[in-house]
Amino acid sequence: MTLSEATKQRFAQEVAKYPAEQKQSAVMACLSIVQQEQGWVSVESEAAIAEYLGMPQIAVHEVTTFYNMYNQQPVGKYKLNVCTNLPCQLRNGQTALEHLCGKLGIEDGGTTADGLFTVAKCECLGACADAPVMLVNDRQMLSYMQADKLDELVAVIRSAEGKAA
Ligand code: FES
Repeated sequence: MTLSEATKQRFAQEVAKYPAEQKQSAVMACLSIVQQEQGWVSVESEAAIAEYLGMPQIAVHEVTTFYNMYNQQPVGKYKLNVCTNLPCQLRNGQTALEHLCGKLGIEDGGTTADGLFTVAKCECLGACADAPVMLVNDRQMLSYMQADKLDELVAVIRSAEGKAA
């Protein structure tokens, strides 16, 4: 895989934030840029980043796999992560995950056939008192996501995308 000049320019802006001999420190930013541009981080992208930063590909892969915000496969337009760590678990986190999966007809980690939704469990989002908690597209956190609010969320997204609820 060849990085575009535009992508390399964005990488260079991140690398410039660190001392020259520590450009590997920009690895997370470079992975984020690739994900913004392509929606996910492929093995080929990891190889290109490794080459650009002068680090082993396995070291890039270790970062990709450590943080679950990096998508290791293509995801739907709306990635919905439901927290199932213990505090959420005690307040229906697993039930929320299963409700969402059931409503959309997919398994945990799956993507709907129309490519609109991916649902996956995730680790603690740091808002345990608001359980069940979920995250939309790695950016927007939603609290108290009981079944009725999950149904509403799906309906709002489908409506915004011009699809039947
Ligand atoms: S356990 Fe779910 S937000 Fe902390």
